Order: sequence, then C-alpha cells, then structure tokens
Amino acid sequence: MVENAEFEATLDTTDEWIRSRSGIERRHFAEEGETTSSMATAAAKAALSDAGLVADDIDAIIVATSTADLTFPSAATMVQAQLEMTRGFAFDVQAVCAGFVYALCNANALIASGQADRVMVIGAETFSRIMDWTDRSTCVLFGDGAGALILEAQTGAGTSDDRGILATDLNSDGRYKDLLYVDGGVSTQSTGHLRMQGNQVFRHAVEKLAKTATTALERAGLGAEDVDWIVPHQANIRIIQGTAKKMGLSLDNVVVTVQDHGNTSAASIPLALSVGKERGQIKPGDLIVTEAIGGGLAWGAVVLRW
Ligand code: ACO
Repeated sequence: MVENAEFEATLDTTDEWIRSRSGIERRHFAEEGETTSSMATAAAKAALSDAGLVADDIDAIIVATSTADLTFPSAATMVQAQLEMTRGFAFDVQAVCAGFVYALCNANALIASGQADRVMVIGAETFSRIMDWTDRSTCVLFGDGAGALILEAQTGAGTSDDRGILATDLNSDGRYKDLLYVDGGVSTQSTGHLRMQGNQVFRHAVEKLAKTATTALERAGLGAEDVDWIVPHQANIRIIQGTAKKMGLSLDNVVVTVQDHGNTSAASIPLALSVGKERGQIKPGDLIVTEAIGGGLAWGAVVLRW
C-alpha cells in the first residue's frame, strides 16, 4: 500500500492536493513478479470459492484489461491455465477504464445467445507499469488491482427472479483519443506511458456518465428512484459526486472506494462490488448501476439486480 505522502519525496505534490482534487488517499502497486494475470487468477479463485464452484464449472473467462502480461496470448487464457481449467474459452476485452462494463455486456450476450451458462468476468490491471513517475498530473492517480464476478444463466422453471443484467448501454468516440492514451504499443515496439489531459476528461465524464446510466435505466424500464447503489468506476470523487447529483442521487447511494484504491482502470468496478458486499452495503436483490468512462473515449453503463 502506498500513501499519498510517499510521493512528496520525489514529486512537487502534496497529500492535500491529491486528496482534495481526486479523493485518493492511498493505492496498491503490484509487487515485482506479480502480473495482471497472476492478480486476475487470485481474484478468480476468490470468486469461485465465494460461489462454491470449481474452475471447470465455468464456460468462459473474460478479462477486461489494457495491461495484459504479454502482447499475446490473452491474459484470459493465462488465467484459464493458472486455474487448471480443461474446458471452455477465454479472451480479453480492452476498453481501458470502461473495460469491465464492456466485458459484462459481452458476458451477458454470451449467456443470452446460449453459448455459455457461466461466465467469469474479471477486471485486472497493472497501471503502475505504464506510469511516467516524473509526471505528477498522472502518476499519483492510478493503482493496480483485480476483481472478479461470475454471471450465471437463469435456468429451470420458475427461476425468472429478475436477477442479473437487466440492461446495458455502450458508447465510444475515437475523436477524443488525444485526451487519454499510452504513447507506445506493439507496432512502435515500445511500452509507452500514460498521457492524460485530466481536466478535459473530467469535463466529459460527469455529463456522459449520467447520460449513459440514465439510458441504461430507461432500457430496463426503471428510473434513478429505483437504484439502490451506483457502483461507479473509481477515478475521482468529484466525478463520482457530480454524476450521482446529476442523476438526483446522493453519495448515500454510491459505493466509494477511490480513497483506498486510486484509479485501477478496468479493475475498479469489480473491486468496488467486492468491497460493497463486504461492507454489507450491497445485498441480494439490490438494483445496481455500474458506469465507467476512460480512454477512447469509451464509456457505458450496466443495470443489474444483485
Ligand atoms: N500535485 C500538485 N499539483 C498538481 C498535480 C499534483 N499531483 N497534478 C497537477 N497539478 C497542478 C497542475 O499542474 C495545474 O497547475 P497550473 O494551474 O499551475 O497549470 C493545477 O494542478 C490544476 O490542474 P488540473 O489538471 O486543472 O486539475 P483538476 O482539478 O482538473 O484535477 C485531475 C486533475 C485529478 C486529473 C482531474 O482532472 C481528473 O480526475 N480528471 C479525470 C481523470 C479520469 O477520470 N480519467 C478517466 C479514466 S482513466 C483511464 O481511462 C485510464
């Protein structure tokens, strides 16, 4: 765990600036030797144990990540191997901070089409490996982590109890590439560092997040008054507050973990779901809206009954 104050030794920054501008107090960084797939596997094992399942009960693994261990194979197939799974299929989804929302939509479609009955959806990132440690406007904001959940088809007579994913809304607009990107990649044979025009991303965030959440709710035939919990991507407490306010909700309806994790990109929503469950905030039957925006720009929301 790395506290804000630790950056004061190497950067022209303060705990007070980071805390007041972003809400972040601390974050975790992967240890040497730890990778996106190793953290994803740990999260997958915890989810299997929580669900009382074993790896071969899973039909598909989707890992949402922009920081896979290798260019290929996917982090998801590496998780499949680390779980010693002998069946099923696995692939990655790359939509940066919106990755987990995109992965949930993919999982839902696989189940709805009959291709899979149980899908493990994982968000896992090692953004510490793409930080420019001399850039105070980005490196203090991000953290590493992984979280997982398992989606299951509702089968059998009389089991239509309205649980699971009720509606989704996805968007992207590639014209905004320069607001948030990594200045390296495979075809330039470099890893690169994250570059962000934070205040510009901020400008888009609240408006687009409130709109996508409202659209997904409308598709489910619901409104903000029906929401028990918003579980947002955790980038900045001011974005989280602004989005809730625009939807007519207070922070009492929001699971907030940004203070302890920083921005873990695609891992932030499954981490927040897990923490919300542990805190006793999220209970079976609750109506949850997850929403996220990130590089692309890519953004979206999922409405689900827990
Ligand atoms: N410490 C001290 N001062 C700093 C720091 C720092 N760590 N970083 C920047 N500053 C300075 C800037 O240099 C600037 O100084 P200047 O006015 O002299 O030029 C001043 O603080 C204000 O900078 P802004 O960028 O305007 O500050 P803002 O209030 O917008 O907060 C922040 C910055 C926290 C980055 C905010 O804009 C934000 O959270 N943006 C959205 C990030 C986000 O949601 N990203 C999307 C997901 S990420 C993904 O997809 C990978």
